[in-house]
Amino acid sequence: MKILVTGGAGFIGSHLVRRLVTGGGHEVVNLDALKYSGNPANLRDLEGDRRYRFVHGDIGDQPLVERVLREHRIEAVVNAAAETHVDRSIMDPGTFARTDVVGTGVLLEESRRAGVSRFLQVSTDEVYGSVETGSSTEEAPLVPRSPYSASKAGGELLVLSYWTTFGFPVMVTRGSNTYGPNQYPEKFIPLFVTNAIDDQALPLYGDGRQCRDWLAVEDHCAAIDHVLLRGEPGQVYNIGGGNERENLVVAERLLACLGKPAQLIRFVRDRPGHDRRYAVDCTKLHALGWRPSVSFEGGLNATVEWYRTHESWWRPIKSGEFRRYYEEQYRTRLNEAG
Ligand code: DAU
Repeated sequence: MKILVTGGAGFIGSHLVRRLVTGGGHEVVNLDALKYSGNPANLRDLEGDRRYRFVHGDIGDQPLVERVLREHRIEAVVNAAAETHVDRSIMDPGTFARTDVVGTGVLLEESRRAGVSRFLQVSTDEVYGSVETGSSTEEAPLVPRSPYSASKAGGELLVLSYWTTFGFPVMVTRGSNTYGPNQYPEKFIPLFVTNAIDDQALPLYGDGRQCRDWLAVEDHCAAIDHVLLRGEPGQVYNIGGGNERENLVVAERLLACLGKPAQLIRFVRDRPGHDRRYAVDCTKLHALGWRPSVSFEGGLNATVEWYRTHESWWRPIKSGEFRRYYEEQYRTRLNEAG
């Protein structure tokens, strides 16, 4: 197939592009705006591969999207382009609405007009809101509680409306917390690993007892690939790793992997509106034939090892735009914690 992957220079996007090209033998066009977390180095190994093309641009740029879809005779679209970090959505909600709702709308409409035969929207389990007990099936109500998750919910509702209204063959995946190599170090695991390598404090929000279901990036991409080929139009599929862990437990475990002291952990002021727990019921995707294959402990060890041996990837990132963000997000919190 000829597939357009948007956001393919990002974390999940780059792993997905590599899988589709080298594993699936598909031709892939990667449309990426190269904002702060998009990194061409993530796909350096595919440069020169005739099955892979990179286009620099935004999913909200209608003339560009129209041209890319037609010029490359795209058959399927995977929208992995998004603003994704909850803390940044609290600082600057407008950017999230623009990319995750309006940008998605532009890509969707142009894909419909171009006669694309499958459109997969990469969404998130955060649209269900905080799940105190049990787990969310795909029919659970959407109760997003941050500007990030509300924007993702808006984007996916727009996508689903195209099935009802136009019969346009869309699918939505709702993935859980994803981790692995090449993840921008604003997120919990890469932030804590890289801080710990430098003997810096690990800023743990609130009481550290919030719970996330950890999903290895290779499992997440295998699930997206599976749904793209075998999913039913108009359907939503949860993707979870089956690895619920409290943040404090994850922080302690990665410190142990690195041989660093638990005293690096600092309990800091909580994220506003912090969701306590996410948990998805994946019966529907299991019935379609996908299962996660990476154990959390194995995946976390491998991820810690990757950051330990790839300082040339993350050190330049942590010294640039990231430093300003880190100051704004953490300086007062860390000072308050003493
Ligand atoms: O559930 C899927 C979602 O997982 C994705 O849709 C989002 O794009 C992704 O960012 C992630 O959202 P979270 O808010 O759960 O991920 P984050 O890495 O920001 O935080 C994970 C947990 O760790 C959360 O309970 C907040 C906590 N945390 C995070 C950071 C960055 C801390 O305690 N300290 C921190 O400095």
